[in-house]
Amino acid sequence: MRIVLLGAPGSGKGTQCKSIVERYGLLHLSSGDILRKERAAGSDLGKKAQSYMDSGALVPDEIIIEMMANAIGKVPDTGFILDGFPRTVNQAAELDKSLNHSGQTIDIILNLDVNDSIILDRITGRRSCPQCGAVYHVRNLKPKNTGLCDNDGIELVQRPDDTPEVVANRLETYHEQTEPLVDYYKNKGTVFDIDANRSADEVKNEVFEMLDSLVIT
Ligand code: AP5
Repeated sequence: MRIVLLGAPGSGKGTQCKSIVERYGLLHLSSGDILRKERAAGSDLGKKAQSYMDSGALVPDEIIIEMMANAIGKVPDTGFILDGFPRTVNQAAELDKSLNHSGQTIDIILNLDVNDSIILDRITGRRSCPQCGAVYHVRNLKPKNTGLCDNDGIELVQRPDDTPEVVANRLETYHEQTEPLVDYYKNKGTVFDIDANRSADEVKNEVFEMLDSLVIT
């Protein structure tokens, strides 16, 4: 199974991917996570991406396309779920081209549909573990001990791009450059729209129901 997960910043892509990979055994490829690892490692790629990420702009296509082609090229037969990539129509077209080259296609496109009005609260309340990457929320998904990761007890941190100003830019970028992808994929086939304004568990249950029906049939 090869899945693309679309959705605005804070729509719950990372949260849902965690549940999907646990149930279906897919590899989770998050372009944002890969970029943050590159930054933490101080690589050239990380340095090039830094200013774009911190301002809420997209990292240029040529950097991202090469980075994700490398990551996808290493995926075993289990399949994958893409989170945060593609994010422009050009990225999607390049992804299609490179998959076609090896006789593959994207099988399922999920679109997490969420109102802008709830995104700010979700993103500014997000806290994550710098060690294992686990994601929490100060109200919706609290760790057992305030401020500490349930998995390893490490102090949780806030992403530097999770401030109200940068979130506003990220949302604008999403509407201008990423939302057109929904039509791009709708023109090619089915896109499964999921109402992601509901609780994470409600969203997960609908996603599972839908994926189960596709995997079984
Ligand atoms: P990236 O890391 O991909 O960020 P994003 O798309 O903005 O998405 P987020 O990670 O903020 O949100 P999410 O949808 O995963 O939500 P989450 O599950 O964490 O990208 C960062 C930057 O990297 C970009 O701005 C860009 O610069 C660059 N970049 C990345 N990919 C690129 C590309 N392809 N091209 C160019 N540049 C690229 O949930 C958020 C919070 O809400 C959490 O606290 C969670 O607990 C909570 N929550 C989740 N679901 C629910 C729910 N249903 N109800 C209540 N709370 C919920």
